[in-house]
Amino acid sequence: MTAPMPISLDVNGERVDAQVLPRLNLADFLREHLQLTGTHVGCEHGVCGACTVRLNGEIVRACLLLAVQAHGASVQTIEGLSDSGEVADLQTAFRDRNALQCGYCTPGMLMAAQDLLQQQAEPDREQIREHLSGNYCRCTGYQAIVDAIETTARMRRGLRP
Ligand code: FES
Ligand code: FES
Repeated sequence: MTAPMPISLDVNGERVDAQVLPRLNLADFLREHLQLTGTHVGCEHGVCGACTVRLNGEIVRACLLLAVQAHGASVQTIEGLSDSGEVADLQTAFRDRNALQCGYCTPGMLMAAQDLLQQQAEPDREQIREHLSGNYCRCTGYQAIVDAIETTARMRRGLRP
């Protein structure tokens, strides 16, 4: 049996030191070791986007990374973005536009949407769809999600929703 390895990383602005098995993926580490259960696990092979987190500022699939690969990195989860208020307007728009039903995809959707809006202040609906094409939702049919992101983009530019 392979022995646990020490890792140190920054998670949502706090230093974390842990001993993990080399085979443990980052999503399971966040959920099971740190109780950050906002990072969801769906397909576990990089398709659904439910496990999306930020690693050193870039969104990644936490199910495709090993926890040991995050050693020395800065990780932000939906809890971090939510607690800081960074995505408060997106969360409000998702609620107002009925862009979530079961909510399973929502943390990953918010992470991806915020990533898009940081890169592009004025995305059109096609660009929103393209950026979210790696995030699956089984409930909403996507229209309401695109509406919520479009609304947030408009409001961030000081326009009416
Ligand atoms: S659980 Fe990671 S992409 Fe689906
Ligand atoms: S709201 Fe249920 S999967 Fe998206």
